[in-house]
Amino acid sequence: MRKKITIVGAGNVGATAAHWIATKELADVVLVDIAEGMPQGKALDLAEAAPVEGFDCRMTGANNYEETAGSDIIIITAGLARKPGMSRDDLLAMNAGIVQGAVQQSAPLSPNAFIIVVSNPLDAMAWVALKASGFPKNRVIGMAGVLDAARFRSFIAAELNVSVEDVHAMVLGGHGDTMVPLPRYSTVSGIPIDHFISKERIDAISTRTRNAGAEIVNLLKSGSAYYSPSASAVLMAEAILKDKKRLIPCSAYLEGEYGVSGCFVGVPVILGAGGIEKVVELPLTPEEKAGLDVSVKAVQELTALIKL
Ligand code: NAI
Ligand code: 2OP
Repeated sequence: MRKKITIVGAGNVGATAAHWIATKELADVVLVDIAEGMPQGKALDLAEAAPVEGFDCRMTGANNYEETAGSDIIIITAGLARKPGMSRDDLLAMNAGIVQGAVQQSAPLSPNAFIIVVSNPLDAMAWVALKASGFPKNRVIGMAGVLDAARFRSFIAAELNVSVEDVHAMVLGGHGDTMVPLPRYSTVSGIPIDHFISKERIDAISTRTRNAGAEIVNLLKSGSAYYSPSASAVLMAEAILKDKKRLIPCSAYLEGEYGVSGCFVGVPVILGAGGIEKVVELPLTPEEKAGLDVSVKAVQELTALIKL
């Protein structure tokens, strides 16, 4: 039987995620949005691409949650996107209400689903989804680290003119300006990147990674990145549905790991059929730990502002 993925928010990230899911023939998709006719139109458009691309995924659009019942995965992309000059944190109050409503309506209809949160500010919205769903922590996961690491990987690959496939990178912390790229845990086919790249250039690439979301916002001038964010969310869905046990950075609810409790933050996890099956604790240098602490504090302060 085919798997079923609900995507709440059929905007740029949501609709592009549906596209990636279809091209991978991963699951049937239900797109939900408040905009009347829009999710239906995008679902129909995608369905009409199926004979051309050769995928047998059923695409449905809706303005309510009825069709979402029995989903294996719920991806939450509903909300407002950043505009130039707007920080992720400005989105807090608006998106907390939107995410809470989306989860309260979708989770009871799919009580065994995994929730992948994309809406910003990411780590705080993942916390909202955890509270609003009542799901166990292994089934509520924030998407950020896969994207941030992909950006880091793409910059390293471009710097060295090597295949992106051979570059692996790790980024810890909240999905914001305080995220912590970890060059020490970043390699080209297992060879640490400082073998190839000077410290000065590694620092520059790390800074570009931290600002990569804003770089795209400033170029687009309306809205934020969506190809790489949607691809990252679909990679996570695939890891769960195919029990791939990927070791990737995700925003996870921590209860003591890395000395952090009661909030979501980006850490390496094993992602498989059990959702977050394990949080992987890396030894950190004092400098890396200090960077993570700053990032965690920023997430905790933001999360504390949310009134559900
Ligand atoms: P978008 O504006 O293109 O799409 C958002 C959609 O949500 C719109 O179609 C809107 O009608 C819908 N929506 C609003 N309220 C809703 C509700 N109550 N129920 C259902 N749908 C609702 O925005 P985009 O670019 O798709 O981004 C979506 C979110 O994802 C934003 O919060 C953005 O900041 C975030 N984001 C997070 C990333 C990450 O790394 N975690 C990366 C990229 C975006
Ligand atoms: C990004 O990193 C806006 O969070 C979004 O592109």
